Amino acid sequence: MKLASFVDPLPLPELQKTKGRRSSELHGATDAPYYSIRVHEISCKMHRDLPSSRMWAYGSTSAPVLFDVQSNEGVLIDWINDLPAKHILSLDPPMHGMLNAPETRTVAHMHGARVPSISDGYPEDWFGTGKSKLCFYPNRQDATGLWVHDHAMGVSRFNVFAGLMGWYLIRDEVEKALNLPSGKYELPLLIYDRSFDPQGQLYYPNPPDEGAWAQEFLGDAMVVNGKIKPYHEVEARKYRLRIANTANSRFFSLSLSNGQSFYVIGSDQGLLSAAVAMKRLVLSPAERTDWIVDFSSARGENIVLESDGLELMQFRVGKDAVTDNSQLPKVLHPVERIDETRAASTRLMTLNEFDGDNGEPMVMLLNRKHWVDPVTERVKLNSVEIWSLANLTQDTHPIHLHMVRFQILDRRNFSVDDYLANETLRYTDVARLPGEHEMGWKDVLQCPPETVTRIIVPFQGYTGRYLWHCHILEHEANDMMRPYDVIA
Ligand code: C2O
Ligand code: CU
Repeated sequence: MKLASFVDPLPLPELQKTKGRRSSELHGATDAPYYSIRVHEISCKMHRDLPSSRMWAYGSTSAPVLFDVQSNEGVLIDWINDLPAKHILSLDPPMHGMLNAPETRTVAHMHGARVPSISDGYPEDWFGTGKSKLCFYPNRQDATGLWVHDHAMGVSRFNVFAGLMGWYLIRDEVEKALNLPSGKYELPLLIYDRSFDPQGQLYYPNPPDEGAWAQEFLGDAMVVNGKIKPYHEVEARKYRLRIANTANSRFFSLSLSNGQSFYVIGSDQGLLSAAVAMKRLVLSPAERTDWIVDFSSARGENIVLESDGLELMQFRVGKDAVTDNSQLPKVLHPVERIDETRAASTRLMTLNEFDGDNGEPMVMLLNRKHWVDPVTERVKLNSVEIWSLANLTQDTHPIHLHMVRFQILDRRNFSVDDYLANETLRYTDVARLPGEHEMGWKDVLQCPPETVTRIIVPFQGYTGRYLWHCHILEHEANDMMRPYDVIA
């Protein structure tokens, strides 16, 4: 289906309002701002020329919800499952043995949040229609852009696809003092791809053979904040664009059509030490990037945000000169690089893919282990570890650890054949430092093929059961997801 570009205005995220304040003894929360969010089915036009599509949402339209919260002020969110009894998508094949679970189960995960494990949205903490779950987000972390999405066991790829995602912006004084573009000059953008059936309904193609699973989803309609290829009128001045890739599988290679540079000021877990001027940036599923874009030298122009020739959205720059008091400061938020010598231990973790001979279905695994295998990673609270992620496959996998933030040390090519033959790492190249835009705090990172990607992780926060996984939602489902424990 070919849909006209730039005919719908960009929807702005739907700012959520508190319903007073509450306490919860279970969560150790006292007089905290309280939100109640209905997870429900809606019907919404995603493009001028499409009929209304059935979708699932945390808010009232296809635009993402937005929580705007303060660092060090914890909030309570009550997630209420008000979904109908049937999913809008066909759920085949069932993953993780979830044959008899309710179709419309959900659990919300605040991606990148440092939270006690009872509020983390553990995949097995899903709940069915008519149930709810109160979660506490302490927000003891720096200003950054997090995103919330469904994480229910076996169906998160369908639930996110149906629309269960939103923004969660944490603010702090450091960020405020920088005088970055704000208010209507700050645009939070969720970008993803979808496909539609001839009736204009969301369509997730399942492979034809029975029991087969789609290794990835790539759609032909590019969506920003719930509309297909929207436009936005901007003034000829600086804007802050906060972009999250919330696609199931697609990597976006972002650039501006007039070739101008954008200034990257932050990544997943907050501000960089200093802005990095870039013309192209590859964003994997779940990664976020925070930009300052100066439209002042493009008065009257139309500029397209694109990904390798695909149009995402258009900015229509006003003709008038305007005054702009916002800044792009030289120093943002100094990020102290963690020295390798602080690591108490190093773990080698492999990313594997097994073809499944003898009629066995194909699987992707972490450390050759399935989700249901006993926990193998038990990490001491407040210890620092290096995880060496050795990718034995031919794909780039975006690996995400819950609860923590980390830094990327380096990436280095190795011989996969040698590793498979005798489990030794023979490097074939020198180590490469991460890109400057990756030098800040991260919570998900790109692990390229035949490469050992090393991260250094301070396990600060809480003890309890968490998880790490590939954020290509199709991979996570089969079965690139593992629990890990933080112990006292
Ligand atoms: Cu963004 Cu385990 O998730
Ligand atoms: Cu993967």
